[in-house]
Amino acid sequence: MSKYITTPIYYVNGEAHIGHAYTTFIADTVARYDRLKGEETFFLTGTDEHGQKIEESAEKAGKPTQEFADEISATFKNLWDEFGISYDKFIRTTDEEHKKGVQKAFEVMFAKVDIYKDFYEGHYCVSCETFFPETQLVDGEFCPDCGRSTNVVKEESYFFKLSKYEDKLLEHYAKNPDFIMPRSRANEVVNFVKSGLRDLSVTRTSFSWGVKMPESLHDDKHVMYVWLDALLNYITALGYGSDEKLMKYWPADVHFVGKDILRFHAIYWPAFLMSLDLELPKHIGAHGWWTRDGEKMSKSKGNVVSPKEVADAYGVENLRYFMLREVPFGQDGDFSQRAFIDRINSELSNDLGNLLNRIIGMSGKYSDFVIDSKDVAQYHTKEIEKMDAILDSLDTFMQNLQTHRYLEELWKLFAIGNGVIQEYEPWVKMKNNQKDEALATVAVVANILAKAAIMLHPVMPNTTNIIADALSFEITNTSYKELIVDKKLLKLFNIKKVPPLFPRVEEPLMQEAPKAEPKASKEEKKEVQATKTEDNLIEIGQFFETSLKIGIVIEAEEVPKSKKLLKLQIDLGEESPRQVVAGIKEFYTPDDLLNTQVCVVANLKPAKLMGMMSEGMLLAAKDEDGLCLIRPEKPKKAGTPIG
Ligand code: MSP
Repeated sequence: MSKYITTPIYYVNGEAHIGHAYTTFIADTVARYDRLKGEETFFLTGTDEHGQKIEESAEKAGKPTQEFADEISATFKNLWDEFGISYDKFIRTTDEEHKKGVQKAFEVMFAKVDIYKDFYEGHYCVSCETFFPETQLVDGEFCPDCGRSTNVVKEESYFFKLSKYEDKLLEHYAKNPDFIMPRSRANEVVNFVKSGLRDLSVTRTSFSWGVKMPESLHDDKHVMYVWLDALLNYITALGYGSDEKLMKYWPADVHFVGKDILRFHAIYWPAFLMSLDLELPKHIGAHGWWTRDGEKMSKSKGNVVSPKEVADAYGVENLRYFMLREVPFGQDGDFSQRAFIDRINSELSNDLGNLLNRIIGMSGKYSDFVIDSKDVAQYHTKEIEKMDAILDSLDTFMQNLQTHRYLEELWKLFAIGNGVIQEYEPWVKMKNNQKDEALATVAVVANILAKAAIMLHPVMPNTTNIIADALSFEITNTSYKELIVDKKLLKLFNIKKVPPLFPRVEEPLMQEAPKAEPKASKEEKKEVQATKTEDNLIEIGQFFETSLKIGIVIEAEEVPKSKKLLKLQIDLGEESPRQVVAGIKEFYTPDDLLNTQVCVVANLKPAKLMGMMSEGMLLAAKDEDGLCLIRPEKPKKAGTPIG
């Protein structure tokens, strides 16, 4: 059986940040894991280079678009090479084969009458050159950005019959509950499809930096919509539309994506594939968002974490370990040097590094760096059984993409290793002339380290190769089969000294992020107050600084161990739902809230409550009788502004 793993293709309008690195690390880890198990694996990554956004970024940089795309695409490729990412192909949407494949797909869909020509009609603000949906207009007419009047504009466009696939998509989600991983993310997709799909405009005439229409359509004023072009990379990379040899890898096992682009992958992409009569990917793995020190990263704040900077300071494999260990797959994660350093010192340096050093030291002292497992079964059956049970449990975690649980369980092996040394005290046994027993203890720990190194290999490939080298074996799918599947022990082997693998980190090795916003000085506060009148009235502009929106609660659950908090996922009409942690548990149960409408303060700075990010606040009124939520009198669409 073969495996096909992908990352999203990254836009070439800026360099890689830590969020891109995370998707790439997790995909690389799964691909390496599959290869370790002996599966024939194809791992794809690359860059997404078309569309207006890229055209404009190139213009700003004063470069021809292709040259600009070449440069940024190369920064991604070089970074992944430097990080040792094991991709089999790096695709660029400006590759000729890709463009050919996209045109072929367009022709197939067109021939099936799944693509038709019509007019795109919408509210257009000429000044901003943007279409706005009616729900976003101010008073049904004015541009929400510049306040000018909008025009109803008609633009010719080709449409994909997305609506035709509504039922089939719902059927697919129902029959394949693990299509979207983690399952908790499926609701938002299902609800979106259930609320009705509109046909999708898949060409543009307003810019030209895109894949041209197939010649057979004789319509060269259109270029392809960037998401149609981009999603098709997953099959054009396998040669769809040109040399189709690699199509044997299709369907993909997992497309890794961030939660913001889940809808494109879980709705549009399967519908396109159905139209092309191709199988659907087995899983879409949607991960959460990374923040820095609890704050959203943005160029303007200057707090974007550069993966290169982190890797240069702390080592790329430490970073891989940290990111995959720190967050449950699907949830948001926070990068802070404090948390990173804690994990390096306690888990990598103490638990793993020290154990290896102890074994090297003891084997040198007791047996001239030779280890023999002959007496392990006699003295350490209990530890071997515990170790085997842990090793057996790991595969399920990796199949469910739960890297944090995988690593958490794996680390229990080091606890067993450290525990057995503590309990059996080989140095005492050596003094008491019980050398066989002492050496059996050293040997069982060396075997634990060997097996742990194999299973840690997908996450930390180079480091584990050094550990394996110290134990005189190689990590390959043969050693995986022998030591993990067949549960054999390394019999007689030499130990080599290695330099410390995880030196302790005492001080942060990088500059801290610039503080979010300096607190207003007394003078500034006075100034703000001065703009208020004596009656404490505010200007209308001050009121409009608060973005209030209608939200629909699509998931609600209690926060364990908290008397007050409920965790909600709220649809605000954005790409993905917002997580809001609200102190209303005493007044509402999760069922009271599910599928109801609420009013949300949508531009509050995210905050952490009991370790969970909260990205908004609900409006409520509280008096001595209790608390009630403020809700619209009539149902409104998710995201409708309140003002
Ligand atoms: N080009 C599209 C993807 C097309 S796939 C057919 C795109 N590119 S992107 O460069 O904007 O984003 C790539 C990936 O990075 C997305 O999965 C996105 O979720 C992820 N991330 C961007 N910022 C992120 C964080 N701060 N944290 C985690 N991942 C984030 O979208």
